[in-house]
Amino acid sequence: MKRATSLAALCALAVLTLGATFGKVSIVWPAVDLPFRPGPGFETVIANCTTCHSAAYVYTQPRLTQVQWKAEVIKMKAAYGAPIADADIDAIVNYLVLQNGKP
Ligand code: HEC
Repeated sequence: MKRATSLAALCALAVLTLGATFGKVSIVWPAVDLPFRPGPGFETVIANCTTCHSAAYVYTQPRLTQVQWKAEVIKMKAAYGAPIADADIDAIVNYLVLQNGKP
């Protein structure tokens, strides 16, 4: 009887541990928390693009051309008030094309 009880307790513990582990895994949701990947222009993008939203906004877009990414960066600046220096725009656009661009 005692043995059955401790076996049940062991099973419960195992289920709890599995549950906790599984729960932890399911909380990590890569699509929402994609970090910017290292590459040329990385620091400029971190400095200019992470204050309002995550990098997922970039990686979940369809692949854009250089012209489209430039329009996107200008939109962030003009429409949403992102404080992006004009001198940084080309470095940012080149980075975005490398990360998620098309010819
Ligand atoms: C001042 C805040 C701010 C900054 C800084 C900012 N964004 Fe945004 N961004 C926004 C807002 C607001 C939206 C629209 C959010 C929504 O529709 O849910 C957005 C949306 C986007 C989208 C989704 C497509 C779209 O046009 O709505 C992309 C891609 C994007 N931003 C890229 C960037 C990049 C790249 C940078 C850095 C150059 C940047 N953002 C910096 C505010 C900002």
